[in-house]
Parts: sequence; structure tokens; C-alpha cells
Amino acid sequence: MREVAIVSRKFAVENSHTLSVAQAHGAYKTLEKLHTLAPLEIIEIIKESGLRGKGGGGAPAGAKWALMPQESERPSFVVINCDESEPGTFKDRQIITKDPHLLIEGILITCYAVKAKHAYVYIRGEYAQYQDVLQGAVDEAYVAGILGEVDVTLHRGAGAYICGEKSALLESLEGKRGHPRLKPKQPEPEWYFGNPTLVNNVETIASVPFIMEHGAAAYRAYGTEKSPGTLLFAMSGHVEKPGVYEAEFGVSMMDYINHYGGGMKNGKKLKAVIPGGASTGVMTAAEADNVQLDYESLRSMGLSLGTGGMIVMDEDTCMVSVLKNLLEFYHEESCGQCTPCREGTGWVDKLVGKILDKRGSSEDIDKLLEVAETMNGKTICVFAPAVSAVIVSFLSRFRDEFEAAL
Ligand SMILES: Cc1cc2nc3c(=O)[nH]c(=O)nc-3n(C[C@H](O)[C@H](O)[C@H](O)COP(=O)(O)O)c2cc1C
Repeated sequence: MREVAIVSRKFAVENSHTLSVAQAHGAYKTLEKLHTLAPLEIIEIIKESGLRGKGGGGAPAGAKWALMPQESERPSFVVINCDESEPGTFKDRQIITKDPHLLIEGILITCYAVKAKHAYVYIRGEYAQYQDVLQGAVDEAYVAGILGEVDVTLHRGAGAYICGEKSALLESLEGKRGHPRLKPKQPEPEWYFGNPTLVNNVETIASVPFIMEHGAAAYRAYGTEKSPGTLLFAMSGHVEKPGVYEAEFGVSMMDYINHYGGGMKNGKKLKAVIPGGASTGVMTAAEADNVQLDYESLRSMGLSLGTGGMIVMDEDTCMVSVLKNLLEFYHEESCGQCTPCREGTGWVDKLVGKILDKRGSSEDIDKLLEVAETMNGKTICVFAPAVSAVIVSFLSRFRDEFEAAL
């Protein structure tokens, strides 16, 4: 397996969160080059690199940047999404603690390209200690004069999963309740207090300095044609060495699990993998044996790559119990704005609870699928459709376990 370190290159360096160590290892080198290029030229480079958003959806970053107005009477903003609340996902916290200056460098390049003077980093409520490290790096960057022309403000959320959804995040940043907004018919920027705003994930922005330094082709040299570059996969569950490891898109899942994860814990057999965070569905061991880690391969299986938060489960895992665990989370975290989500997440949680407690009947399995169907495509954001897809993925692959539990 080809080793690659685009966002993780300073992770092993001691004290790389400090400005002096980060600079000794090349931090902020791209800023000299930055002003030799026009903002639109930078957007073109990002488009050519094929960089895709790493917050779960995989949207092309360059096309999103190009939606931001180059001429505007209103100020433009950049917002970095560090909500990181998807179960199984813990990669952004590696960046903000191990190489916060890489993120700040990426923010400066992004702000220059979309003509923004102020960036916010929205951090999940539970990340207080990680926020302190990032704040320390921001403070050092201000003292060194790296920040000032562009401001960076950290904003801590209050611990709601839905506030990772970009429009709910912006509502929350505006001081309101974190409810997702209606989607526009045509692609347009996001809006923060009515001002054009770009929202990107931490890792997306942390990938930008490499592209600026080495060029679009160097980024494209990794990964596949449609999923270029790398992803910081976070691996948890029944492997010998859980952790966060950067790999290029397109590597085989089993190679990844064996190479970085050190294989299955205690020599047990693999049973199932959630490939990219709780909302991406589940696959069987046989499917995991044949799949490549890129957006297209996962989509062709009716699953998604999400954030690459891989949860590996061994032969002793009860799939009914895993689904119950996930549904409890969704029930707790539904923001309640849309009825199919608010009510549906409660219903599916109760139904799977009944099956798990061996109080269920085959009608409950049918009812579960019926409620999942009702939750799909009828809500403002994709929270409920994702829950629906998770249920379908479990039942289409492990139905026998649900029936055995009746
Ligand atoms: C329920 C829900 C939770 C989300 N949580 C996060 C999150 O924690 N971090 C993140 O970057 N994106 C999250 N997203 C995706 C964001 O809405 C958005 O697509 C992303 O921040 C855009 O950045 P990117 O294009 O760089 O991926 C979430 C989406 C949904 C529907």
C-alpha cells in the first residue's frame, strides 16, 4: 500500500501544534505564492485538483467556491465545519490538535480565493479541550501577524448532532436554534446573516495548502479519477489498532483494515463494516472483501463513504443491538422540526427495542420497514432519509438475525 500524508504529514512531529515547530516543518510557505495568483486562478486550481468535500457529501470543493461572489456589496464569510458529531468519525480533531496551523493556512488561502475577511470555525460542544489547542494556534498566528488582515473566530456549539448540517450550523452561529433551512432550487452560496458564506469541512480546507504548494496534478496523482486525493479514515471497533490513518481513495477496504488496523482483534472473523460513519449503512464481510474505498464504489452498493469513519465488527456482534444503538442516537438527536423525522425516529427506535427484547413479531419487522419508507424524502434535511437508508441496509443484509430475535 502506497503511504501518503497530505493532511497528516506533521501528525508524528512532536509539538507540531506550536507555530515555531509547524513553521520549521513548512507551515505557511504557500502564503508567499498566494498573492502572485488572482483569486479566480486559485479557484481554478482547486477545481482542477478534483478536491471533494470531506464532511460526508463529497461535493466538489472548487465548484462550491466558484458560487461565492467575487464582487459583492456585502461581506463574504468562510465557515469551517468542525462539528464532527457523526458516530464513528473522529478525524477533524486530529487536524485541529496535531496540525492546527495547517487548517489556519488553508483558511487564509480559502478566504483569499473567495474574498472573505472573516472565518468562523464551528466546533462541536464536546471538543472543549481540542478547541483550546486550536485557539492557542490562532492566538500565536495573530501575534506573529499571520492573522489580522483576515480574522479567525472559534465558535463552540452546544452539542447537537444536527448543528453539523451546514444550514443548521449557520442558524446556530447566528444565535438561533439549530434547525436546517429549506434548500434553494439552484446552487447558491450559504448565507450568514444574509451574507454570502462558504461552508467546508476541516479536512477539506486542510487539504488546500498541499494543492497550493504542489499543484492540482500532484493531488490527482493519488486516488481515483473521480475521487482524487486522500481521506483521513478513522477506524474503530474490533481491530487491533484503531486510529486515524490517511490513505488514498481507491484502496481496498481489507488492505486498509489489515495494513493500518493490524487486522481483526484477537484473530476473530469479520462480520460487518459501517464504512463511513453511522449514517452510511452497513455492509457484510463478503462485501467488505471486494470493495474499494471511494465515493463511487460505495454508492454503487447503495451505501456511502461519508467521512470515512469506519466501524469494524467481528463475528460476535449482534446486529440488532448495533441498529438499536444507532437508532437511540438518532431519536435523541432529531431536531424535531419535521414530523416524519421527529416521530419516525421514536417509532423505529421502539420497534427495534421490542425485537431486541424478544417481544417482537414478524409484523414489527414489516412495520419497521414501513416507517423507514415514510421517513424517506419528506423532510427538510437528509437526517431522516439517512436513518431510513441505515435501517434498510441492516434489514436487507442481516434480516435473519432480526427474525431469529423474534
Ligand atoms: C445531520 C448532518 C450532520 C452533519 N455533520 C457534519 C459534520 O459534523 N461535519 C461536517 O463537515 N459536515 C457535516 N455534515 C455535512 C454538512 O452539511 C456540509 O455538507 C459540509 O460541512 C460541507 O463541507 P464539505 O463540502 O467540505 O464536506 C452533516 C450533514 C448532516 C445532514
